[in-house]
Amino acid sequence: MDTRALCNTASLSTAVEKKALFCGDLSSCPDPGVGTVLVTGACGYIGGRLVPELIARGYRVRVMVRACAPAREGLWPGVEVAVADALDMESLRRALDGVDAAYYLIHSMLLGPGEFAKADMTAAANFRKAAEEKGLRRIIYLGGLGDVRSELSDHLRSRMEVAEELARGTVPITILRAAVIIGSGSASYEIIKHLVLKLPVFLAPPFARNRCQPISIRDVVKYLVGVLETPEAAGKNFDIGGRDILTYREMVETAAGILQKKRIIIGYPWMQIHLFAYMVSLITPVPGPITRCLVEGVMNEVVCQDESIKEYLPFETIPYRVAFVRALSREEQDRVHTRWSDAYPPAHELAIKLDELGRAPIYTSTYSISTCRDAASLYRSICEIGGKKGWFHGNWMWRLRGAVDRVLLGVGTSRGRRHHSGLEVNDVVDFWRVEDMQRNERLLLRAEMKLPGKAWLEFTIRDSEAERIVSVTPYYHTTSLFGRLYWYFFLPFHHFIFTGLLEQIAGNG
Ligand SMILES: NC(=O)c1ccc[n+]([C@@H]2O[C@H](COP(=O)([O-])OP(=O)(O)OC[C@H]3O[C@@H](n4cnc5c(N)ncnc54)[C@H](OP(=O)(O)O)[C@@H]3O)[C@@H](O)[C@H]2O)c1
Repeated sequence: MDTRALCNTASLSTAVEKKALFCGDLSSCPDPGVGTVLVTGACGYIGGRLVPELIARGYRVRVMVRACAPAREGLWPGVEVAVADALDMESLRRALDGVDAAYYLIHSMLLGPGEFAKADMTAAANFRKAAEEKGLRRIIYLGGLGDVRSELSDHLRSRMEVAEELARGTVPITILRAAVIIGSGSASYEIIKHLVLKLPVFLAPPFARNRCQPISIRDVVKYLVGVLETPEAAGKNFDIGGRDILTYREMVETAAGILQKKRIIIGYPWMQIHLFAYMVSLITPVPGPITRCLVEGVMNEVVCQDESIKEYLPFETIPYRVAFVRALSREEQDRVHTRWSDAYPPAHELAIKLDELGRAPIYTSTYSISTCRDAASLYRSICEIGGKKGWFHGNWMWRLRGAVDRVLLGVGTSRGRRHHSGLEVNDVVDFWRVEDMQRNERLLLRAEMKLPGKAWLEFTIRDSEAERIVSVTPYYHTTSLFGRLYWYFFLPFHHFIFTGLLEQIAGNG
């Protein structure tokens, strides 16, 4: 490895320099003996924060992604991209070729309670075998914290089993175990924030008295980088936690104080955990499969059992209150770099792209308007759609559709968006996901709400003779009778919604 790169932070790419890095005050130093570092789960919440730190410290980084996201390549210049699925051994072997150390950040929580554990175990077993074959020197895994002597939730148990599976191999593994992670874009942070903002009276179930040791995302990333730079950490397990040990109720109360909301919290003796998880999914932007895994984890005390990590990396972690305030301020500054909604299984039935459909959808209708606004400002307006700004016109209809989706355990509209201003391919926009962007010409969104079919929404800007035309086209594909009825039922509403939407965009200075 080029050791000059390790010391010369001035040579960092502009993209990396722009980000606030977390590891500047880390006591460990970049290790010139480390070769290519593979980051799996690089499009996920933790992986996406880790990659820029490793680049900034001069490591040669290869990211493993399931779908090649061009936006990511631009985001992390100089990083090698390996397209691989841990469930496919051949692709995994290729991704691990020539790798020295690997971060294992693979997790399939989005598959939901019934599915994720099996997929995660198969992925871990494949990874262990491929890592042995390719002679990796180290694996670093971030899993969940929980007292193994107690009965763990399915989610926490699965995280432990993944650790055991990876540790069965000959490659030394460092296991870090964290409880709730607080940071802008983290699911736990967004759940707490939205519960506080939306519920004036909070019914606290008995498990709200359980204790937790939340940790900030910046401290997690520091530990992840720090153990790579500490060879003695190889083959060891560490619990990592923030400075405070709090009950879940105290976490909510602290958040209410920070958000300056007077909240009445009433202890409630009985609450069915799945019902509670469902209610959380209705109130917060985080959908059912994720809230259920997280809420089940609340039944367990998640507090560090040992502090041996401090012998190797003796930095002070930040208190919960500070982590929460920093997350809020990142949101206010529109600087959320990764979010829980980023990870997305490409094999998911909703991930089929418009041009992968085989034949063009037959249910489609185009609405257009001519305007004298320039293409760049039109495109900017289109890219601001959704989230806090809403849909320019008929917002109540979008919200109503979102609420219905939530009740049906869909993602609803409250996911909002990661940035208020900019968009990238794969970003979430309420119940849509960005499928394609062509600057000043096209924005294509793919529907992720519950539908009896598949849907897309395309915005285009084109010049035709003396005028500029902005169009919006919903595409819909279905094979069922109910699906067809659904399309024809909503067609009259489309006219109202989309013509109003275009008028707003065209006239929006
Ligand atoms: N976030 C937290 O609050 C938290 C708290 C404690 C511990 N942790 C631990 O931290 C680790 C990372 O969590 P995270 O929050 O970053 O998860 P995440 O955002 O859900 O990301 C998971 C990543 O795993 C990838 N993945 C899933 N299945 C895969 C497969 N078959 N092959 C290749 N990649 C696959 C996903 O790739 P795609 O992008 O292609 O979907 C995604 O990038 C997990 O072990 C988790 O237990 C997280």
